[in-house]
Amino acid sequence: MDGPRLRQVFANVMKNAVEAAERTPGARVTVSLYRRHTAAVVEIADNGVGIEPEHREKIFLPFYTTKPTGTGLGMAIVKKIMDLHGGEIDIDSVPGRGTMVRLVIPRSPVPAAVEVG
Ligand SMILES: Nc1ncnc2c1ncn2[C@@H]1O[C@H](COP(=O)(O)OP(=O)(O)O)[C@@H](O)[C@H]1O
Ligand SMILES: [Mg+2]
Repeated sequence: MDGPRLRQVFANVMKNAVEAAERTPGARVTVSLYRRHTAAVVEIADNGVGIEPEHREKIFLPFYTTKPTGTGLGMAIVKKIMDLHGGEIDIDSVPGRGTMVRLVIPRSPVPAAVEVG
C-alpha cells in the first residue's frame, strides 16, 4: 500500500473527528481496525456535532467547509486517495450525536518476485 498517502487519509479523517468533538463534554474519538475478507477496515468514530443528511455528499467537494477557517480540502483528498486505491468510504452520522467514517482499503496485490542484483 502507499504508506504516505494512506497516512494522509488517516490524518485528515482524524483531524475532522477531533475538531467535530472538541466542544463535546466527554469528547471521544475511537479508532477500530479489523479485516474484512482481504481488505483492511479502519473506522474512525467521534461523538461530535455530526453531519446533516443533506450535507453528506458535499463533504467530498473541494473547498466545502462549515468551519470558519477550514480549507474544505481534507475530505476531497481522502476521496481522491481512496479512489486511487480502489478503496471505499462509508459515512454514518447522526446530527448532534456523532459520526463514523469507515475506510475499506483493499489489499494490494503481492508483488511478484523482486529481482536482486
Ligand atoms: N467527523 C466529522 N464530523 C462532522 N462534520 C464533519 C466530519 N468530517 C467532515 N465533516 C464536515 O465536512 C466538511 C469538510 O471537511 P474537510 O474536507 O476535511 O474540510 P475542513 O475540515 O477544512 O472543513 C467539514 O467542514 C465538516 O462540515
Ligand atoms: Mg478537515
